[in-house]
Amino acid sequence: MCGIVGYLGKGRALEVILDGLRRLEYRGYDSAGVALVASGKLQVVKSVGKIRDLERRIWALSGEEAYHLGIGHTRWATHGRPNETNAHPHVAGPIALVHNGIIENYLEIRKELELAGYTFQSDTDSEVVAQLVRFYYQGDLFQAMGKAIDRLEGSYALAVISEEEPQVLVGTRKDSPLVLGLGEGEYFLASDVPAILPYTRRIVLLENWDRVVVNPQGVVVVGADGKKVDRPFQEITWSMALAEKAGYKHFMQKEIFEQPRALADTIGAYVSPAKGDIFFPEGELGEGVFSRIVLVACGTSWHAALVGRFWIEAQARVPVDVEVASEFRARNPILDGGTLVIPISQSGETADTLAALRIAHEKGARTLAVCNVVGSSIAREAQGVIYSYAGPEIGVASTKAFVTQMVILYLFSLKLGLVRGMLERGDVSWRLKEVLSLPRKMEEVLSHEEDVSTLARELYHVQDFLYLGRWLNYPIALEGALKLKEISYIHAEGYPGGEMKHGPIALIEEGLPVVAIAPRDVVYEKMVSNVEEVRSRGGQVILVGFSGDPLEQRVDRFLEVPPVDGTLTPFLTVLPLQLLAYYIADKKGCDVDQPRNLAKSVTVE
Ligand code: F6R
Repeated sequence: MCGIVGYLGKGRALEVILDGLRRLEYRGYDSAGVALVASGKLQVVKSVGKIRDLERRIWALSGEEAYHLGIGHTRWATHGRPNETNAHPHVAGPIALVHNGIIENYLEIRKELELAGYTFQSDTDSEVVAQLVRFYYQGDLFQAMGKAIDRLEGSYALAVISEEEPQVLVGTRKDSPLVLGLGEGEYFLASDVPAILPYTRRIVLLENWDRVVVNPQGVVVVGADGKKVDRPFQEITWSMALAEKAGYKHFMQKEIFEQPRALADTIGAYVSPAKGDIFFPEGELGEGVFSRIVLVACGTSWHAALVGRFWIEAQARVPVDVEVASEFRARNPILDGGTLVIPISQSGETADTLAALRIAHEKGARTLAVCNVVGSSIAREAQGVIYSYAGPEIGVASTKAFVTQMVILYLFSLKLGLVRGMLERGDVSWRLKEVLSLPRKMEEVLSHEEDVSTLARELYHVQDFLYLGRWLNYPIALEGALKLKEISYIHAEGYPGGEMKHGPIALIEEGLPVVAIAPRDVVYEKMVSNVEEVRSRGGQVILVGFSGDPLEQRVDRFLEVPPVDGTLTPFLTVLPLQLLAYYIADKKGCDVDQPRNLAKSVTVE
């Protein structure tokens, strides 16, 4: 995880780096630091905590009016506690370096350098890289960095400067993201695009092993084979407003309310209402001759996969396995050329999902990624990619990416059903009509936010929650529980309703809030029984159901969603659960967008 920024240009290094780090805080926020070069000397300021804590210490810089060169870092600790010494940038002689990733062979290199007389201040793997660059440094930073990375095992995005070369910024990446921004007489390095979007829209997505050197004459990128490569820039078209709060108190709140738009954009990218058909990038599905599909993901994306399995199996009649990426890679999975592996990832950088994708390739499976971040590692390495159009998701808790992942899986199931002859055109066209009605129905659910915030005010002090759902809404129960845990730190369990009597029913006591997700679908009657079981044991039932449901009279709280085809309910039922988690966390005074111990992009295993 961690976020890095680098700047070379017109004298606003400090401003650009701090601003970029603020936008990268979602990647980690337990300490931060900047290194700038002024009058041929490095100046470094670090602080434990967030960027605002770092800003309070900026006075410690010499007061130089304009810095032309600098790097910055916001950290999510992996090696070494979050303290000032372990914070980046790490300084080694004239060199300062920031790192995102994990160096697996750092202990071995550290020992070697210690024997050569080098001393270390921190416990980090990153300082080893800084010392290694120093070890090779003979006045040419680019060359020294190149020699250093030849020794590294693991993942890294690096930005490096030297006080002896005040007009040179170098960077490189392997399995951690790094983009290069091209301004007018200014150059930027950053872990992602929004960090530098206010300053330039011309972005180069660096490839694994690329090394870049920037100086006032321009930019040179060298590829894995050591030869100069031409990496074309892309003009970023989405607006900064999409990556800003736009009047909402938190990014998560804004992103919850953006969901109808995100869904409509994603549907619009692939569905032709006039033709009643779905068009994915050419060739993504081939003839649809897969004997098996494996959906692989982590966290909320895994929940989307769990929902997607129902649709693909029902509509395309292909067996589907759903795998937590870290477990999948741990057990030497059985795959072959008849298997399609679909990694699902908002960031496209999740280390376990990326590793699962690589295993799929090693074993000869075909791969098709579902990603939100264009040009991310997973999107680039998969044989095909279907992008979601959620726009940048900044809140650590995933919301809009989740619904767009689901809609892609739904559309995928329809298209595959068509290609495999399991669905008639007529089936697809009425289902598409239902899908096209979802954004409006989502607006309707979100318009009841006041009911949810009232409920949150009543429940925010509670210690435990239970979430129950069946069939398509079992993953939604898991998702509701995950949202609550991660942003409000309240213990919550998601369970399939049918499993209640096999254990969790013992948890039910007077007043325990039980969120029952029970739209009128094929398992509705069974959920009604669960609701009665909870009520008879004194549990407090919060029912998520279709407007006008007679159960409304029999439960403690009712959160309504408009009726929709029974196979599409997750798009609506998840919304009150996101809102509930959000309002409870806000009422408790939690840091909603940056919950403790978490980071948006989990680029470590
Ligand atoms: C939870 C959440 C995480 C992510 C998970 C996978 O709200 O955001 O559980 O879903 O870390 O991330 P991606 O989708 O980027 O691979």
